[in-house]
Amino acid sequence: MFNFIYHTPTQVVFGKGAEEQTGALVKGQGCKKALLHYGGGSVVRSGLLGRIKASLDQAGVAYVELGGVVPNPRLSLVYQSIELCKKEGVDFILAVGGGSVIDSSKAIAYGLAEEADVWELYDRARRAKACLPVGVVLTIAAAGSEMSNSSVITKDEGGIKRGYNDDICRPRFAVMDPELTVTLPPYQTASGCVDILMHTMERYFTPNGTMELTDSLAEGLMRTVMKNAVILRDDPQNYDARAEIMWAGSLSHNGLTGCGSDGGDWACHGLEHEMGGMFDVTHGAGLAAVWGSWARYVYRDCLDRFVRFAVNVMGVAEAGTPEETALAGIEAMEDFYRSIAMPTCFSELGISPTREQMVTMAHMLHIASGGKKGAAKVLREADFLKIYEMANH
Ligand code: NZQ
Ligand code: ZN
Repeated sequence: MFNFIYHTPTQVVFGKGAEEQTGALVKGQGCKKALLHYGGGSVVRSGLLGRIKASLDQAGVAYVELGGVVPNPRLSLVYQSIELCKKEGVDFILAVGGGSVIDSSKAIAYGLAEEADVWELYDRARRAKACLPVGVVLTIAAAGSEMSNSSVITKDEGGIKRGYNDDICRPRFAVMDPELTVTLPPYQTASGCVDILMHTMERYFTPNGTMELTDSLAEGLMRTVMKNAVILRDDPQNYDARAEIMWAGSLSHNGLTGCGSDGGDWACHGLEHEMGGMFDVTHGAGLAAVWGSWARYVYRDCLDRFVRFAVNVMGVAEAGTPEETALAGIEAMEDFYRSIAMPTCFSELGISPTREQMVTMAHMLHIASGGKKGAAKVLREADFLKIYEMANH
């Protein structure tokens, strides 16, 4: 086991009607003026934005609003928002939406706190010294950004999607009402469930430093997400299942399921970020499409973990060789993805990259990762390309 710091400063306000407390929560931050930041319109259509505004008004919070964040949020809107916030004297960012809105908010918060170009953070040119406070009203359980130290932004020119991790961006509070997620299209619900699973799987598939308690939490979380993802497939209005998934989304990416390990693998996220940058695919679906190919490429190098995963998470009976058990676990996970209409290869994801495009993605990941990625098996540029080729059917 490795030493670790578990830092989760986010106040979670969870349950039916929790969004009514938003005004008081922002007020409690002692800010002068908030930016109300949201996405492409779902919060307008559902009436949530109106209720948040009423809550801010009631608490006497001054705010300015800017919507239009798209999935795989763009740097251009971050720049535009920073300009608006400077003009308006904004000192608090309230994200109403999902991972894309939250990540855009975190980028704006970094950009306002320092004069230098915020993209330098995502481009690994420097580390942040400061970040304005961010609060969240969550509308989709998926990215876990409401408690994470991460934000992922796409530079418009060249479709360069990059993440930046720093504890100073962790939101001050996260309002989580599972009822807000019932309006999600089934594809987004399922993609969110995959992303939640993957945040724990990325941490789980490492041979370096594990803890019995962390493994048990991780395995319980993964089983819970799979069970409730199927319930939501058949009954999207099910409140309890929505609540299980929403809480799992936060716990899967706030660091809990990685305590004691070396930090985990994260190759699938690296592979997906290049796919998201080039093809603008939905993050969770992109992860599902590449995971099976990654797993088959690396499982022999991390066999004990894959066997444990097969037995404890996927319920595979241990029979035959460890390799056979591990492969049965991988197949069972792919069957699960298919059962919730998630892709297991590129054609099912709706993309058909040329060889040249895959070479480009592998090279971009080589640059983004500093030459290597992964813990289950350390991967380099040639390996990235092989995994893309395996998934390209
Ligand atoms: O834009 P609107 O109209 O709101 O529609 C959104 C969007 O189209 C819609 N939606 C959200 N809540 C809804 C809803 N539709 C109906 N009812 C609701 N209640 O869902 C679509 C997806 O929203 P988005 O915010 O993009 O989803 P998600 O939370 O999956 O975020 C994805 C982004 O987060 C990044 C991903 O790479 C991607 O860019 N990630 C961020 C992480 C982090 N910051 O910690 C970690 C992740 O690994 C991930 O990389
Ligand atoms: Zn993710």
